[in-house]
Amino acid sequence: MSHALSLYTDSDIHFREGEDTVRNGVKSISDQNYARLKYPHWAPTWDPKHEGAFENPGPFVHHDRGYFGDPSFDRLLGGKEAKRTPITPKLGDVIEGVQLSKLTSQQKDDLALLVEQRGVVVFRDQDFKELPFDSIIEWGNYFGPLHVHATSGAPLGQSEFHITFRRGEKGEAKKTLANKLNSIGWHSDVSYELQPPGITLFGMLQTDINGGGDTQFIDMFEAYDRLSPQMQAFCETLQVLNSSAQQAEAARLFGGVQRKTEIESIHPLVIYHPVIKRKALYVNQSFSTRILGLKQEESDLLLKFLIRHTETLLDGHLRANWDENTVVLWDNRRVIHTATVDWDNEALRHAFRLTTLGNRPVGSEAEFNDWTPEKELEELKHLDEKLQMTPADYYENYGKKFAEYSKRK
Ligand code: SIN
Repeated sequence: MSHALSLYTDSDIHFREGEDTVRNGVKSISDQNYARLKYPHWAPTWDPKHEGAFENPGPFVHHDRGYFGDPSFDRLLGGKEAKRTPITPKLGDVIEGVQLSKLTSQQKDDLALLVEQRGVVVFRDQDFKELPFDSIIEWGNYFGPLHVHATSGAPLGQSEFHITFRRGEKGEAKKTLANKLNSIGWHSDVSYELQPPGITLFGMLQTDINGGGDTQFIDMFEAYDRLSPQMQAFCETLQVLNSSAQQAEAARLFGGVQRKTEIESIHPLVIYHPVIKRKALYVNQSFSTRILGLKQEESDLLLKFLIRHTETLLDGHLRANWDENTVVLWDNRRVIHTATVDWDNEALRHAFRLTTLGNRPVGSEAEFNDWTPEKELEELKHLDEKLQMTPADYYENYGKKFAEYSKRK
C-alpha cells in the first residue's frame, strides 16, 4: 500500500481494499461511511461485473450546443428571479434563480454558450440530486455523449455518473499529505480520451465541511495568451501525449475495478475552441506525459515549464465554493481544476459528476473543418507506430504535417 499512498490525492474516486467493503458482491464504501450518507442511493460502487465491460469511445462528430446559444442570455437569465454575478472579470459567474433541471432546449443552448464563454458557472439551489438518475442522464445527453469513467465509483447500475467521495474519517488529510506537501492536483478531466469532455457538471450531494473543500480553476485561454508570440508559435506546432496509465495503476493498487482498457491519446499542445474561436494551452500534470517530436530532456523541460506556468497563474484563477445544493458547470477544454483538501477532521464530502464528451481536440480552425471520424480512424491505426518513433522520424512523418496545418487559419 505504500506506493498507493503517494497516489492518495486521487483517492476520492477509487475503491480502497481493506478500508472499504463488499456489499452483495459489489465493492463500495464501509458500512460506517454508508450510514452517514444523506443520499445513500448515490453511494459509490465498483461492480466487479463491469471489469472490462465498456469500450473506449471511438471518434464521433460532436454537435456543440454552444453554437445555438443566444449571447444576450435573455432566454436563460431573463426571468426576474435570475441574478448573475461575475467571479472574476474574465473567468466564472455565479447564477442564482435558475433551476437547471427545468431548462428548455433553447435555454440549454444558452447555458452551453455561457459555460464556454465564462469557463466556469456556479449555480445555487439546484435540485438534480432529488431527481431520478434517468432524467439527469437525459438532461446531460443534450450536450454530448456521456462519459463512463474507467475506474471511479458510480451509483449502483449508473455507470454514467462519476462519484467523488471523501471518507469521513480523521486522518484522511494526513494520508493525502503523507508523501506530498499539498493536496493540489491540477487536471483537465480524463484528457487521455480521444475526444475529452467539454461541458461538465459537478453537483454536491453532501458536504459536512464547514466552509472548505473549494474546487479551484485556471483559465487555459489566459495561460496561452500570456505566452510570448514566439513561444505561442512554437507550442502551436507540437502535440502532447495524454495517458490514463497512472490513474489505472492507482485503481489497481487500491483494489478497484477497470471498466475499460487503459488509453493514450495524442492531442495538440494548443487547442482551438470551435465555438469561442480562441486558443487554449492543453496540458496538465495529471495526464500529459510527453511532447511528441522532442527528445526526452526537451519534452521534460517544456512540460515542466508549461505546467509550472499554468499552475501558478493565480491571476487567471478562481475558487468555486460549495454548499449542498450547488452545481458547477465548466468547459473542460478551457480550464484545468483541482480539489482542495483544507480540512482535517471527520467531515465527509460526497459529489457527482456528469461528463459530456466534446469535439476531437484540434490545433486550428482549418483542422477542425477538415476533421472527420473516418480520417481519425485511419490516424488511429498508426498510434502505436507514432509512439515508438524517434523524435526525428516522428517529425518527418507526422509532426511536420501537423505543424504546417497549425499555421493555417
Ligand atoms: C475533481 O478534481 O475532478 C473534483 C473536484 C473536487 O472534488 O472539488
